[in-house]
Amino acid sequence: MEPIKIKIHSTGKYVPEKKVSNDDLSKWMDTSHEWIYKRTGIVTRHLSEGEDTSDLCIKASRNVLEGRSIDPEDIGLIIVATMTPDGQSPSVASKVQAAIKATNAMAFDLNAACSGFVYALSTAEKMLRHMHLPYALVLGGEVMSKAIDWSDRKTAVLFGDGAGGVLLKKSEEDEQFLTEDLHANGNKGYALTSGEKKVSNPLVDTQEASGFLTMDGREIFNFVTKSIPKSINKVLTDNDTSIEEVDYVLLHQANARIIEIVAKKLGCSIDKFPMNIQTYGNTSAASLPILIDELAKDNKLFIDKKQKIILSAFGGGLTWGTLLLEIN
Ligand code: COA
Repeated sequence: MEPIKIKIHSTGKYVPEKKVSNDDLSKWMDTSHEWIYKRTGIVTRHLSEGEDTSDLCIKASRNVLEGRSIDPEDIGLIIVATMTPDGQSPSVASKVQAAIKATNAMAFDLNAACSGFVYALSTAEKMLRHMHLPYALVLGGEVMSKAIDWSDRKTAVLFGDGAGGVLLKKSEEDEQFLTEDLHANGNKGYALTSGEKKVSNPLVDTQEASGFLTMDGREIFNFVTKSIPKSINKVLTDNDTSIEEVDYVLLHQANARIIEIVAKKLGCSIDKFPMNIQTYGNTSAASLPILIDELAKDNKLFIDKKQKIILSAFGGGLTWGTLLLEIN
């Protein structure tokens, strides 16, 4: 029997309408466009004016399915990568399942912070191979603005809200998922924390934790600039592919300086590293699917030729990982 192959069938995104500039932020806190832009490359970010993560994900899902004549009942699996779900239950994925009427789909959220989309894509690709229905919907969606301490200028200027996703399909064509390299280092979990909740019950009287996002920026910067080039080189070596054969390296959009350093370490032109951090800031698990959809709609991806692309992300956990795909 022919092995089952998996391909990316369509892409989509949704970001809240409200665009907030660095100058806008400088009215709310002691910061400046110069500081933010020089250190991160960010110019604007979209912030929710009330829409929650499921609202963004439902709109992104509709965008993924738009004009594709897919029967939602043919979707067997929905995974939403998020570190900012509406709540613990129901999952964001369950809300998406109901909204798009994917009545045959199992649905769950996955949290690997900013690496979430890469983890979710890897998980969905493997699960779909063993499912009888032909489609899986994989989303990354975040309302980071509700996790942030707006009095902490070190983190408040970095993040934005948004959602994006892809529809995976079982395929007769060539395999698109070539190699992967996924990791976690829980020993460094303290470098990015969010949503902490202390045990409080009739037996323990605990002071409520703030739950806001905290980050040791330097620690993350040092970890990423070492581990991401290594991870990218690993998938290339494992697949006997050179960086010259890769069309695009799509890196998690956390910081333009990080992307420049990674490109330099790989000895590769920055032109291979498309960026949209200037517009959206760091949207965590949503950053890669938003970038993929923008490139697809710009006719740079999923064109009439085979392209090798790398997806690589890093974030809280700490987690990181890289996928090598050959798409067309
Ligand atoms: N506006 C103005 N000044 C600010 C500021 C802001 N928003 N945030 C911090 N500063 C100040 C600090 O108070 C500090 O001032 P001091 O020297 O007088 O004490 C100075 O700027 C340097 O702060 P520091 O935190 O050391 O900056 P940095 O050079 O490490 O840059 C990051 C901060 C966050 C941009 C950088 O560490 C980084 O990008 N790290 C990676 C984070 C990341 O990618 N996280 C996402 C994980 S998915």
